Amino acid sequence: MMLVMGIDTSCDDTSVAILEDGHKVLSNVVQSQVPLHAPYLGVVPELASREHLKNILFVTDFALKSADISLQEISCVAVTVGPGLMGSLLVGLYMAKALSLATGIKMIPVNHLEGHLLSILLEEESPHFPYLALTVSGGHTSLYLVEAPLKYRLLGTTLDDAAGEAFDKVAKLMGLGYPGGRPLEELAKGGGPGKVIFPRVDLGKGSLDFSFSGIKTAVALYLKKWAGDSSLRERVSLADIAYAFQEAVCDMLSKNLFSAQKSTGIRDLVMAGGVACNGFIRERLRKKAGELNLHMYFPRPSYCTDNGAMIALVGYYKYKEGQIGDMWIDAVSKHAI
Ligand code: KG4
Ligand code: ZN
Repeated sequence: MMLVMGIDTSCDDTSVAILEDGHKVLSNVVQSQVPLHAPYLGVVPELASREHLKNILFVTDFALKSADISLQEISCVAVTVGPGLMGSLLVGLYMAKALSLATGIKMIPVNHLEGHLLSILLEEESPHFPYLALTVSGGHTSLYLVEAPLKYRLLGTTLDDAAGEAFDKVAKLMGLGYPGGRPLEELAKGGGPGKVIFPRVDLGKGSLDFSFSGIKTAVALYLKKWAGDSSLRERVSLADIAYAFQEAVCDMLSKNLFSAQKSTGIRDLVMAGGVACNGFIRERLRKKAGELNLHMYFPRPSYCTDNGAMIALVGYYKYKEGQIGDMWIDAVSKHAI
C-alpha cells in the first residue's frame, strides 16, 4: 500500500489530503478562507498567508486522523510549489519540508496546474489518454493535451484575465460579493437568452488562446448604460445580463475546446478548475460533446476547486518516476508546466 500526502496552499484554501495507491482518497480536508476575504471582494495575499499559518497544522492533523493514518505510514509528501501567491505557497512548502526533515519521508514538488489537469483521474469514471483538458479557475485558463500522467502539451492559454477572474469581477460590478462565480450562476438562472449579446473574442486564425478582459469591459459599459436607462431596465433584467455574460464565456471556452478536438481527433475531453463547478457550462459542453459522439468529463465540484487530493495524485505519479525534491526547492509564483 502506498500512501501519499498532498498539500495545497497556493491561494486561499488550506488543503491536505491522503491518497492510497493513486486512486483512493482517504481524506481531503479543505479549510476555506472565503469569510476572511469576502469583505475585501478579493483575496488579500498577506491575510491569506497568515491564515494558512494558523490552519496548516490542524488541517494536516485532521487529514491524518480522518484517514485513520499515522504520519509514519506515509510514503511521501507532495506539495504545490507554484503557481500561486508566494506567501501562501511558502506555508505549504515549509510544512512539507518540516515533515520531511522530521520523519525522513520524501518530498515531491508539484505544479498546481498539473493537479487540475489530472484531478479527473480521482474519479471512478475517467478519460483515456490522450485527452484534452481545459483548466479554468480564478488564476488560470488554459487548454492542454494530456498525453500521459506527466506528459502535457500546452495548446492555448489566456492572454489577460482568467475566466474565473472575469466571473469574480463581473459579479463584483453586480454587487454579488466574492467569490462571484456561484452567485452569478444563480442569478443567471432567472435570466434568458437573446436580451443582450456580448462579443465573443476572436484571436484569429487557428489560435487556441483565450481573452476575457474585453467581455469584462463590455459588461461594465453595458451596466453603466443600463443603470441610467429606466426603459432598458424594464426590458432587460440584471439576471439577463448575467445570463449573457455566462453564455459568452461558455462559448469562448467551448469554441477552443472543440476546435482543438477537431484538429487533434481526440475523443475524450475534460474541464477542471473552479469554473468547472458551473452547471450551465457543464450542461452546454456535455450536450455539444454528446452531439459529436465525444466523451466529456468533469471532476466532482470538490475536486474542481483547489484541493490536496489532486496534488497527492500528481505526487503519486512523480514518486513512481523518481521525481523527488530536496530541501533546496523553492516556491515559484509563476510556474509553467
Ligand atoms: O480552482 P479555484 O478554486 O481556485 C483557483 O485556483 O483560482 O477556482 C476559483 C474560481 C473563482 O474565480 C470562482 O468565482 C470560480 O472559480 N467559480 C465559479 C463557480 N464556482 C466557482 N465560476 C463560475 N461558476 C461557478 N459555479
Ligand atoms: Zn486552482
